[in-house]
Amino acid sequence: MQFEQKILKWFDEFGRNHLPWQDNPTPYRVWVSEIMLQQTQVATVIPYFTRFITRFPTVRALANASLDEVYPLWAGLGYYARAKNLHKSAQIIKTLYKGKFPTNFEEVLALPGIGRSTAGAILAISTQQRYPILDGNVKRVLSRHFAISGWPGDPKVAEKLWQLSEKTTPLLRINHYTQAIMDLGATLCTRSRPKCALCPIGRSCQAKKLNKVLDYPTKRPKVDKPIKAITLLMLMHVKKRLILLEKRPTHGIWGGLWSLPECALNENIEDWCAKHLAINIKNPTHWTPFRHTFTHFHLDIHPAVGKISNTIKLNSISENYCWHSFDQMLTLGLPAPVKKLLTSLL
Ligand code: ADE
Repeated sequence: MQFEQKILKWFDEFGRNHLPWQDNPTPYRVWVSEIMLQQTQVATVIPYFTRFITRFPTVRALANASLDEVYPLWAGLGYYARAKNLHKSAQIIKTLYKGKFPTNFEEVLALPGIGRSTAGAILAISTQQRYPILDGNVKRVLSRHFAISGWPGDPKVAEKLWQLSEKTTPLLRINHYTQAIMDLGATLCTRSRPKCALCPIGRSCQAKKLNKVLDYPTKRPKVDKPIKAITLLMLMHVKKRLILLEKRPTHGIWGGLWSLPECALNENIEDWCAKHLAINIKNPTHWTPFRHTFTHFHLDIHPAVGKISNTIKLNSISENYCWHSFDQMLTLGLPAPVKKLLTSLL
């Protein structure tokens, strides 16, 4: 039996076929699910998907909402650029395609946040068009099965993997195959501790034959990331149970999200607060710094807590700052390290 037939046979027995987006797999629903699944596991995605689709049942409903209405439904999933791109894409689809999600590959690929693999997955799953995919799961399955050396982020290696994906993608049951190979990567052919004994294509797996399964795919070459250090301020009005949050600029890290006010590490916090916020802080407390790593740099976060007890004019500072209640703040959709800090305040 061929590689793809073995995978389909395995899918019939063990694959996931009752996921919420598999029921009525319209391009819109599959698109939302694929974007959510890009960095997040199926089990985590399910309740988010259900809430999202209930609130935004159509592309138009999503396009007509404001981004501030979308973020709370994403709170906890992280990588908020995904939510921003969904929202922006919905507006493009409303304008260019009268609110109907396109089914032409080039048009899907042109939407923000959709790369070649996601475009292929959406169309294969929702319209049965034959497009190969190459997400992290599939890269792992193919690089192991065919013992392809080299980091998949290297365009030459990626090209080889795309060719293999193209070659192994069947003509029939493309929707099932697309789901099947991702499921295989997510459940058996996992990064560490793969369950090779259960694998339907184990007998022909080259990496397994070489006893080198964990050597594939080749890891990203190590590069020293630059380090940036900042102070994040937790300014609280203890009695009123309020915390000051700052809306991040649209571009740059955490673009458009609510975060904590940031100042340079070498700033004196009392002076900074007086100058920028017209708030008097006495003896801020410093918490242990911790590191948050982005793709391109490390961010060393130095948290500081400042308590305010005098009455403050809430609307006297710039509109990028806002006092939020302790009860409300965690529902906003916050960057993971900020959420972690605020949670430990409660
Ligand atoms: N990762 C990305 N898309 C996926 C899907 N449809 N099923 C499982 N894992 C995925």
